[in-house]
Amino acid sequence: MTVSLEQLRRCHFAVDLGAARTRVYVRGTGLVVDQPSVAAVNTRTGALIAVGEFAERMTGRTPDYIKVVRPVSGGTVVDIDVAQRMLRHLLGDKMRRALRRKPRLRAAACAPHDADPLARRATIETLVGLGARRVELVDTLIAAAVGCGMPVERPEATMIMVCGAAATEVAVLSMGSIVTADRIPVGGEAVDHAIVQHLRHTHELMLPAQSVRPLQLALSGNGLTPNGPASTEIHGRDVATGLARSVRVDTAAVRDAIQTPLTAVLDSIGKVLRDCPPDLVADLADRGIMMVGGSALLPGFDQMLRQATRMPVHIAERPDVCAAQGLGAMLEGRIEPLVLDPLAA
Ligand SMILES: Nc1ncnc2c1ncn2[C@@H]1O[C@H](COP(=O)(O)OP(=O)(O)OP(=O)(O)O)[C@@H](O)[C@H]1O
Ligand SMILES: [Mg+2]
Repeated sequence: MTVSLEQLRRCHFAVDLGAARTRVYVRGTGLVVDQPSVAAVNTRTGALIAVGEFAERMTGRTPDYIKVVRPVSGGTVVDIDVAQRMLRHLLGDKMRRALRRKPRLRAAACAPHDADPLARRATIETLVGLGARRVELVDTLIAAAVGCGMPVERPEATMIMVCGAAATEVAVLSMGSIVTADRIPVGGEAVDHAIVQHLRHTHELMLPAQSVRPLQLALSGNGLTPNGPASTEIHGRDVATGLARSVRVDTAAVRDAIQTPLTAVLDSIGKVLRDCPPDLVADLADRGIMMVGGSALLPGFDQMLRQATRMPVHIAERPDVCAAQGLGAMLEGRIEPLVLDPLAA
């Protein structure tokens, strides 16, 4: 990606359109939107009924003619029209008017490092629809690394792992650029899905994906290692009778059920390390891995990585908003006086 810090400093707002959440940073104001990337649409009239948290609460509770849609999937805007309308509503009238008053509105957005041209275009089109005359794209990995205060511009290796809802990106960065990186389509949603499938197979219980959090919390304590509570009670719907039922779920079995997605993440880390020059791997042994993204908060995930890689593993202070904060830091020109311009490579 060839965008310079100078160009980013001219942007008025920045958007991180995620599969789970949308964040908007406005220069001079800060993070103004952090809401689910969800919209509820009336299919008869095409009207937007709700966006963000309100729309998410409607999931699974709407009559036929109201559809709850997610315009972003797997890091790509799949419905540009709904994404634009959702963003307009999330920004609110006041903020939108303030942005529209700018003579040549410029926007920045983050995109996965390996996003194809179509995916990039979809993100750009979405922001052009919001009135932006020019849109700069920044790698999510770089934005997130800047957002959690990693010294990306130095000639030392830093390893970052962005654990999103739909995907996980792992990379080694040095001198402001990506040295090696990998992206797998496994994230928080895959973990939730694995738990839902486990309950269905083992307990014949149906549960919406958004209700698995209590089970994830049971994995905390000593992380994904077998010292947390032995079982947890959970309420759902019986697959056969359709009636409400509660069961006690064995925590160790849940831990096993989510091994598949977590192993995919470990494989990805292994791949990035194998592709990385040896000098940089030596740096990484001391500095370890920085986890960002909402799924970094999955209880015990860091502990599991620590055990598997034998490297130090850190979770960023606000992992979920790191990418948006990083874009914000670039817009405000708050990045350390740079030896090199990390983005002009
Ligand atoms: N406390 C938590 N414990 C476990 N998982 C969490 C927690 N908080 C958020 N998550 C998970 O993090 C994911 C959202 O992370 P994030 O906001 O980084 O995603 P996103 O940026 O929208 O997605 P992507 O980057 O993949 O497009 C969801 O899958 C959510 O379940
Ligand atoms: Mg994200």
